[in-house]
Amino acid sequence: MERMDVHSASRPGEARVRHLDLDLDVRFDTRTLEGSVRLTFDRTTSNELILDTRDLTIHSVENAAGFHLGPAHPALGAPLHIRLAPGDGTPRQDWVRVHYSTAPGASGLQWLDPPQTAGKQHPFLYTQSQAIHARSWIPVQDTPSVRVTYTAKVKTPSGLRAVMGAEMHGDYFQMDQPIPSYLIALAAGDLAFRAMGPRSGVYAEPSVVERAAEEFSDTEAMISAIEEMYGPYRWGRYDLLVLPPSFPFGGMENPRLTFTTPTVLAGDKSLVSLVAHELAHSWSGNLVTNATWSDFWLNEGFTVYVERRVLERVYSTPREEMEAVLGRHELDREMAGLPEGDRVLHLNLDGRDPDEGCTLVPYEKGALLLRTIEHEVGREAFDRFLRSYFDHFAFQSITTADFLAYLAAELPNSVDLNAWIYRPGVPPGAAEPHSDAFTKVESGWPADTSGWTTQEWLHFLRFQTDPDMARLDREFRLSDSRNSEILHQWLLMSVRSGYAPGVERIEGFLCSVGRRKFLKPIYSELMKTPDGQALARKIYSKARAGYHPIAQATIDGIVA
Ligand code: BES
Ligand code: ZN
Repeated sequence: MERMDVHSASRPGEARVRHLDLDLDVRFDTRTLEGSVRLTFDRTTSNELILDTRDLTIHSVENAAGFHLGPAHPALGAPLHIRLAPGDGTPRQDWVRVHYSTAPGASGLQWLDPPQTAGKQHPFLYTQSQAIHARSWIPVQDTPSVRVTYTAKVKTPSGLRAVMGAEMHGDYFQMDQPIPSYLIALAAGDLAFRAMGPRSGVYAEPSVVERAAEEFSDTEAMISAIEEMYGPYRWGRYDLLVLPPSFPFGGMENPRLTFTTPTVLAGDKSLVSLVAHELAHSWSGNLVTNATWSDFWLNEGFTVYVERRVLERVYSTPREEMEAVLGRHELDREMAGLPEGDRVLHLNLDGRDPDEGCTLVPYEKGALLLRTIEHEVGREAFDRFLRSYFDHFAFQSITTADFLAYLAAELPNSVDLNAWIYRPGVPPGAAEPHSDAFTKVESGWPADTSGWTTQEWLHFLRFQTDPDMARLDREFRLSDSRNSEILHQWLLMSVRSGYAPGVERIEGFLCSVGRRKFLKPIYSELMKTPDGQALARKIYSKARAGYHPIAQATIDGIVA
């Protein structure tokens, strides 16, 4: 039988897992999760259930005739082959229970020491399962083409609270809607909660939670905005969890509980497009899911499209335009450095780690394609299509071909989809975004910047070809910026131009933030000169232990 997902050893066509019951003990002393998972599955004629694992120790398997771990693959981990008591050949439901422990260096877990938290008193743990790291903390069919419901019982040391992307009842959790394994999520630490609206709130460390609730206070308006366009929010509550700064991503759309970096807490809501983005995944991604990581653009391209629509509705058209232009420019910048094969929407990831497909191409080229279709057929028709798309494929995992067939049937159009999806670069006729505000920013040295938004600052800085760093710093105090995006842009320019007062800030920045999007460009830029290399190595030797395993792997590849 043909393997649909090259990143999973499981064979869901032969035995398909439907439900998990987790029972886990969070052990900060050993940096391990210890416990069991009971898997309920549909079996056909095969007498074997294959699960994905990575660095798991399997102690025993109940209700099985035997088990063995296959050889470990560097990117994919080791398949767990479970021999089932022979069936009578008729399809039926069955179960096994796997007793296991995780490894202290599990790729999907980050164990933080108290100094790495805001409060400095308690340790912290969080999971990051996307793309294929769920297997490092649960033996599962770790492919987005398989959806499961689950329950979980989680034991934590006293005083530390566990949260999951699920219905929460104290230390018991329940997810009744079928989700792919990459959306299973757990965190534990000294967490407080603040409600923001009837169905939304924030979890964070006590010293952060108030600030976070202020920053994210437009969440309910964002939920309503998407509902008006694309149908009801189907997951009950929508909460956010603000993680310590080592979180390697901006955000992660775990169902009912988006995980976010604290670096978006700018104090002025200027970076909340991240909330719009992760929330939009409640439709594009969590409801309608990419069936394989080659179809990742179905998750991210649709999400960036919806994110921008939210920004327009909740904030303003100029705000949307600025974000769209920033994204468009970043796409060109990144694409210039990518091999042709990675400039297509439908990626070939055979033999590669799916994380390698996570460039701006699925995000920004994907969103630009949808915008182009919208312009061609008109907004009303496109919104009607999108709404029916989310209903039609709700709680399913689909491929690019499924999308194309549905689009052809429901919304005939003359966009060259073949070129967009299978050929490199942006085809002619794209609906290019434009921002009047940015045109003003481009017209020489600014007379009055008092009303500038973060987006205008970012565009202004990126637009400088030969920046007068000293003058910029003197007039605008950029080395002291408390906005993470502006500071990051400034530090990057400081490395490029050898601007000493900026370069001096880099160590502090790289040692306090673990967001990969910030780390990667700065380390890469540093590595371009001998002095920079020395500085990169010195800083990385201090900072590495504080980074998430995913970020460590990325930066190892740059600084090595
Ligand atoms: N789902 C992604 C994060 C992700 C992608 C994790 C691939 C692991 C593998 C999330 O929705 C996302 O796109 N986050 C972005 C922020 C967003 C505003 C573009 C990020 O983390 O930078
Ligand atoms: Zn996303």
